[in-house]
Amino acid sequence: MTLILDGTVAAASIRIQIAAQVAEFKKKGHRPPCLIAILVGEDGASMTYVGAKKIACEEVGFTGKVRRFRADISENDLISEIQKINLDDAIDGLIVQLPLPKHISEEKVTQAILPQKDVDGFHYINMGKLAKGASDGVKPATPYGITLLMKHYGIDAHGKHVVIIGRSNIVGRPMSLLLSAAAPYGNASVTLCHSRTKDLSFFTKMADILIVALGKPGFVKAEMVKEGAVIIDVGTTRVEDTSRKSGWRLKGDVDFESVFEKVSAITPVPKGVGPMTITGLIMNTLEVYKAKFV
Ligand code: GUN
Repeated sequence: MTLILDGTVAAASIRIQIAAQVAEFKKKGHRPPCLIAILVGEDGASMTYVGAKKIACEEVGFTGKVRRFRADISENDLISEIQKINLDDAIDGLIVQLPLPKHISEEKVTQAILPQKDVDGFHYINMGKLAKGASDGVKPATPYGITLLMKHYGIDAHGKHVVIIGRSNIVGRPMSLLLSAAAPYGNASVTLCHSRTKDLSFFTKMADILIVALGKPGFVKAEMVKEGAVIIDVGTTRVEDTSRKSGWRLKGDVDFESVFEKVSAITPVPKGVGPMTITGLIMNTLEVYKAKFV
């Protein structure tokens, strides 16, 4: 029997625990944690993601705010707005939804966020702390969410061979650092594969846990995976689906139907890693909020 690693189930369970902690703080007279998301322009997917983040905040008792700016805002003006939020003690977490319009440097904007409020975990300081194994940095939200999903379903990376496809700064690279860390969620032997890897199947077939984040729908086929492996699919590409009103559906990087039969556990797309990214974000916001009280 293949176990479906359902992100909606894990997220709901973790968010109940977060909501209970928030209720305790409120009972003691504290304001709730506050997360603000900056959205520039009108990108449909970004609007959906930001909306989902706001709803998730409200469900756990956080204040969730969205600040919207027109697509033609200048880079300097956007950075000024970020600096104002950096100084606002009533805001715990700040994210800028990516991608940004071409005339704005995502790197400059990401680095303008105060590291202590960077609940996406994209700032050099937080990435550096992760690379050095420091425990006080903000973890990258998606990889952190994946470790929470694994914990929920009792999947222990300790001593296992984890193979990751994709070296992005948002998923693949920080995931490799988290899972190889000397930490309860880590202690794995990690191989990080990417577009220049020769004989990719050689590596993927060795994986006890295979994490796929390259953005190519249906890329990983059954013959590329080991019998009994755990598969985590981070891909979310919109593919055409004329049977739907929207005309599209989300498809992961793994050919789910063929791989399913062969493996011990697999995340679906949607409802796998997606809800856990938001859970990682919420957890990070709670952690930076709580750090103010100790
Ligand atoms: N765009 C796609 N993924 C992400 C993410 O994890 N955080 C932000 N801020 N933007 C994104």
